[in-house]
Amino acid sequence: MEQQIEKVNAAGQKDVIIINRRSFFGALMAVGSLGMGAILSVPVLRYVLYPLYAKASGTEWSDVGEMSEFANATGPVRKTITFAQRDGWREVVSAQSVYVSRNADGQLEVLSAICPHLGCSVSWQQAQSEFVCPCHGGRFQADGQHVFGPPPRAMDKLTTRVQDNKLQVRFQYFRSNVPNQEKLS
Ligand code: FES
Repeated sequence: MEQQIEKVNAAGQKDVIIINRRSFFGALMAVGSLGMGAILSVPVLRYVLYPLYAKASGTEWSDVGEMSEFANATGPVRKTITFAQRDGWREVVSAQSVYVSRNADGQLEVLSAICPHLGCSVSWQQAQSEFVCPCHGGRFQADGQHVFGPPPRAMDKLTTRVQDNKLQVRFQYFRSNVPNQEKLS
């Protein structure tokens, strides 16, 4: 079965369009294939473009230790935590040192051991009751406040929570050698 349609084109001539059942089903198949192709391409495109919109950091909570471990501590306690970072398709698990310390109100805080000057690792010196950075002699109080040397700010405090009696931290890197804490993604 076939149908003819006459149309006048821009040049004023008649075009005859013949539509038969075969061409109709052909067109239907073509539209169906295109639609199916579009649907199937969505997950592929999402996978390919994932690194463009995925966050580079997005660290999760890391266990620092049981709360009871820190109850009677007389100074900052050094702990090593592990955390996962996603970078595009890769997930990298890293380890970092942190210190569990008490602020002036007696509340537990977790400080990054990365010196805010140029990124060396500070360590707690019990005899001096200070954190000391081995690279340029930066010094900090037990609560992380800057005491001496080139670091332009206090030690970086990390976000914490207590879950099932465990102290947890969300590890974060910060920009070096700037006066205010600036998160790095
Ligand atoms: S890196 Fe710590 S004082 Fe310079």
